[in-house]
Amino acid sequence: MNQKNSLGLDICFGNLENPIDLFKEWFNKAKNTEINDPNALALSTADEKGIPSVRMVLLKDYNQSGFVFYTNIDSKKSKDIKVNPNASMCFHWKSLLRQIRITGEISKVSDKVADDYYKTRDYGSRIGAWASKQSTILKSRDELYNLIEKYKKKYPDEDNVPRPEYWSGWNLNPKEFEFWLGKENRIHQRLKYTKLNNGNWGKTLLSP
Ligand SMILES: Cc1cc2nc3c(=O)[nH]c(=O)nc-3n(C[C@H](O)[C@H](O)[C@H](O)COP(=O)(O)O)c2cc1C
Repeated sequence: MNQKNSLGLDICFGNLENPIDLFKEWFNKAKNTEINDPNALALSTADEKGIPSVRMVLLKDYNQSGFVFYTNIDSKKSKDIKVNPNASMCFHWKSLLRQIRITGEISKVSDKVADDYYKTRDYGSRIGAWASKQSTILKSRDELYNLIEKYKKKYPDEDNVPRPEYWSGWNLNPKEFEFWLGKENRIHQRLKYTKLNNGNWGKTLLSP
C-alpha cells in the first residue's frame, strides 16, 4: 500500500502549504530522471483577439515571485504578453508521469537580472540573440547567416557582447498551480493551489 498524504494523494504530493515548494520537489526529481531538458515547458499566450498560441521555452530561474524564461522581446509570444499579460505554463515529465500547470501574469525582469543571465550564455548564443529578429519572416537562411557574421565582426571580443535591448526575460507571477500524477485506469491524481486574497494558498482536489 502506497503512503498517502493528508488529502489521500500519493505521498509525492507532500503536505506543503506553498506550491512553489512542491514545484521544487517535483522539478528536482525530474532533473534526475528526464533524459533532457527537464526545464522545458509549454508556454501558452493569447493575442488581443484572444487567439491562443503555445510554444516550448526553457525555465531559467524560479523563486517565490515567479518563473522566468528568456526570449526576444519583439517575438510573437512577447507581442502577445504585451497586450495580454495572462499566460500559462505546462511542464510534462514523461519519466515521472507528472504534469504541472501554472497560470499567472507575466512582467519583464529587470535589466540587471537580464544582463546577469545574458552574460552566462555562450558566445554563439549571445551573437544569435543579436542576429535573430525572432518570429519575423526570413527571406533566406543566408540572410540570417550574414547577420551572424555581421555581429561576430561587430563584437569580436567574447567577453564583451552587450545584451540587445530586444532580448530579455519574462517572469510569470503565479496565481494558480495544478499538480497532476498519472495513475492506473486513468484515475489520475490532481491537486490545485489557488492564491488567496490574503496571500496564502488554498488547496483543492480535482476530479481526473
Ligand atoms: C525544448 C525547447 C526549448 C525552447 N526554449 C526557448 C526559450 O527558452 N526561449 C525562446 O525564445 N525560444 C525557445 N524555444 C523556441 C520556441 O519554441 C519558439 O520557436 C520561439 O521562441 C518563437 O516563438 P514565438 O514565435 O511564439 O514567439 C524552444 C524550443 C524548444 C523545442
